[in-house]
Amino acid sequence: MKPELVLVGPMMPHVMEALDEDFIVHRLWETSDRDALLAKAAPRARAIGTNGHLGASAALIDALPKLEIIGCYGVGTDSIDLDHAAARNVIVTNTPDVLNDDVANMAIALLLATSRRICEGDRYVRSGKWLKSNMALTRSIRNRKMGILGLGRIGKNIAEKAAVFGMEISYHGRSKQDDVPYRFFDNLVEMAQDSDYLVAICPGGEATNKIVNRAVMEALGPEGTLINVARGSVVDEPELVSALQDGRLGAAGLDVFEEEPKVPKALLAMDQVVLQPHAASATVETRHAMGDLVVKNLRAHFAGQAVLTPVR
Ligand code: NAP
Ligand code: 8YV
Repeated sequence: MKPELVLVGPMMPHVMEALDEDFIVHRLWETSDRDALLAKAAPRARAIGTNGHLGASAALIDALPKLEIIGCYGVGTDSIDLDHAAARNVIVTNTPDVLNDDVANMAIALLLATSRRICEGDRYVRSGKWLKSNMALTRSIRNRKMGILGLGRIGKNIAEKAAVFGMEISYHGRSKQDDVPYRFFDNLVEMAQDSDYLVAICPGGEATNKIVNRAVMEALGPEGTLINVARGSVVDEPELVSALQDGRLGAAGLDVFEEEPKVPKALLAMDQVVLQPHAASATVETRHAMGDLVVKNLRAHFAGQAVLTPVR
């Protein structure tokens, strides 16, 4: 008998095919009666497949008394109730490392897009403005300072890439790391004060909720740029909008938003802002690797082996 799995949202076709081979899959997003589907799955469902957006609440975990494992397609697990899963002895797996390169590349792309005003330049050419005058000069990133909020797996990859462009790197986190060559700030406002670019790439959740607040943005200042590839919750979004409107913050490159896919209307009209639809890991190659890792973790568990990438 195949084990049963509740799949919260759709995954890439090759992942769905692999899951269908090994599991009886209950597709939660396809039903109009979620409670009825969960009640039907409850006596036998031993796994949940989910992603960083849809997560797994305490209520979902409790709806499945036989649950053993949650496989998350994504590295961020802030939308999964990890404490509740632990209390129920449910293993949680995620997809670390396989996405480092592409997520870091998106941070660098936003860094260059904001400093060299790439999207604005594109609009300048298309609208015919170039026929009348040259666009204003942009800013170089060489010798400028990048502060990284969250020097973890992805943060370190961003730091290495930014160093190649001749940037000076510092970081803020809960603890100083002895094996990195970058300056540590135990205070985020002080790091922002010392930075031209602040790149957020820490986890979401309560501990980092609106950690990039008005004081941090003002410390970054009118010449400063915020790049957020972490989670929308990490930034105080109304304060971000007003700081950009008032010119108290120079520019922003944003991949994630508080209520995505809804984006504050005011941001849409700002030339100094570059927006992305939470796409940092969204390449064919990386999403493929993330999907494979979800399947490998679930297969390992049901083969009686240790999972490859447990959370905690
Ligand atoms: P990671 O290796 O666990 O690194 C997280 C870093 O954040 C660590 O350096 C940690 O340092 C720091 N941190 C944790 N809690 C903190 C706090 N309360 N205050 C300040 N710093 C804190 O994780 P990762 O694999 O690099 O991923 C980081 C996050 O990026 C994910 O959780 C996810 O939310 C986001 N992400 C976004 C996308 C996207 O598509 N935009 C893609 C992938 C990941 P300390 O332990 O020293 O505090
Ligand atoms: C994904 C992410 O877009 O890994 C993460 O934490 O935010 C992204 O890689 C997302 O998790 C897929 O749903």
